[in-house]
Amino acid sequence: MLKIAVCVSGGGTNLQAIMDAIDRGTVTNAQIAGVISNNPNAYALKRAAGRGISAVCVSPKDYGSREQFNRAFLETLDSFAADLVVLAGFLVVIPPQVIEKYRNRIINIHPSLIPSFCGKGYYGLKVHEGALARGVKVTGATVHFVDEGTDTGPIILQKAVEVLPGDTPEILQKRVMEQAEWVILPQAVDLIANGRVSVQDGQVRILESEQQTGREESE
Ligand code: GAR
Repeated sequence: MLKIAVCVSGGGTNLQAIMDAIDRGTVTNAQIAGVISNNPNAYALKRAAGRGISAVCVSPKDYGSREQFNRAFLETLDSFAADLVVLAGFLVVIPPQVIEKYRNRIINIHPSLIPSFCGKGYYGLKVHEGALARGVKVTGATVHFVDEGTDTGPIILQKAVEVLPGDTPEILQKRVMEQAEWVILPQAVDLIANGRVSVQDGQVRILESEQQTGREESE
């Protein structure tokens, strides 16, 4: 059973999507061990606590230095004994020692088709404002492993979403969440929980499921 720690800063709809998928059985072999937020008022913390999941706030504001925060963040993650860390709208830079210790075990959901509209300054609504300003006709979401860069790690899954005339950043954000983020984030967790994701030379390979393999053999 894969133990997951989910890091959140806001509403937590992506956290909700993972919890719902576990309940429905579309994510298997996985359980959420704990939720960490940098924001004490994040609604995501309430969503977790409502399910009896341990939910804690670790905020840089509560520590004298970034180094102290980094240590506390790592200790909290370690206390959940997590096999996988999911950044679900977590707007804090992940400490280098955490990336090092959890290499290829941290994934992030980003609300665009990387490498478009990503990197420093592109988060939340700003991503959709950028897409609309550029006039793209298709956007989407990406789940990727986290490395030392901003949105630069190996890509696991992407899903495209149409931009429609009259879209505002808020309308587009909602469509991208509904059609892409809440689909591919649980899907990526399920693939990892079932040992179907490998990283070689910076590229992700998705292994076929036993069912798929069986079907091919019988063809
Ligand atoms: C989501 O749209 C997520 O893709 C985005 O923040 C939102 C969090 O919503 N993440 C980033 O922009 C990271 N660069 P949620 O709290 O309702 O899941």
